Amino acid sequence: MTILCIGSVNIDNTHRVTTHPGPGETVLDKGHLRGLGGKGANMSLAAAAAGARVAHAGAVGSDGDWCRNQIADRDIDVSDLSTVDAATGHAIIMVDDAAENVIVVHSGANMALSQDLIDQAISRRSPGDWLLLQNETNLVPEAAAAGQAAGLKVAYAAAPFDAEAVARVLPHTDLLAVNQIEAEQLSAHLGQSLDALNVPAILITLGSEGARYRADGEEIQTPAFQVDAVDTTGAGDTFLGFFLAGIDLQQTPDKALRRAAAAAALQVTRPGAGDAIPSLEELEAFLSGR
Ligand code: RIB
Repeated sequence: MTILCIGSVNIDNTHRVTTHPGPGETVLDKGHLRGLGGKGANMSLAAAAAGARVAHAGAVGSDGDWCRNQIADRDIDVSDLSTVDAATGHAIIMVDDAAENVIVVHSGANMALSQDLIDQAISRRSPGDWLLLQNETNLVPEAAAAGQAAGLKVAYAAAPFDAEAVARVLPHTDLLAVNQIEAEQLSAHLGQSLDALNVPAILITLGSEGARYRADGEEIQTPAFQVDAVDTTGAGDTFLGFFLAGIDLQQTPDKALRRAAAAAALQVTRPGAGDAIPSLEELEAFLSGR
């Protein structure tokens, strides 16, 4: 089957800093990196690296051709990645010596998706394919509803957290993915535990603690692999991309979780987001030693 990701494409400008500056403070960085990012693009890259057939729909500006080329170079179908009259989305990322990041995103073209583009991308897919969404593009609830109506299974990463979007997308969601902070925000917003949510499957990534997955009334957990992280930007995207690819490729959830955890572990040992996602060969080599 195919994973159709309707999602963001960003140019990530990553600055290494010793510690994050406080309000009113100016600091000089220790290094700068420009690379491909955006939660949507990162997830597409990860799912493709894991061996899934992937299509990425979204928008870039006229300055975004290299983003399109980089995505297409990973064997991802970019037929529905349009060019619009807005700047390509970009992110300013600061990563400190503890590998923690702070991120500001300018959405740009990511918020200029049209309903026609979404409908066209969905119309190219077949029932049973996955539709993968995040909160970095416009029309996310509309895309989820259209995908569900077309018989696609909807996977939704509720990031960046947006209470209103989550409430509208959840009724159409087959697999909800959140990190621990988003899980707490969602619980607080809904006034109920996520265990009580009427969503078929929930993935909660827990950073260095691994991840939990609940489906069909059963919960499984996977530990994280211990590595020396240099940059955790995009680790959650990598995890979900590999996990969803694994499920799409008929792996057991246990196996898909373990491989996703390994992919995320490898990804955080390198600087950058999309560019740091490991290949399948790197993943196999990493796992074969464990
Ligand atoms: O999840 C990481 C991503 O968030 C970065 O690549 C950045 O572009 C922001 O969208």
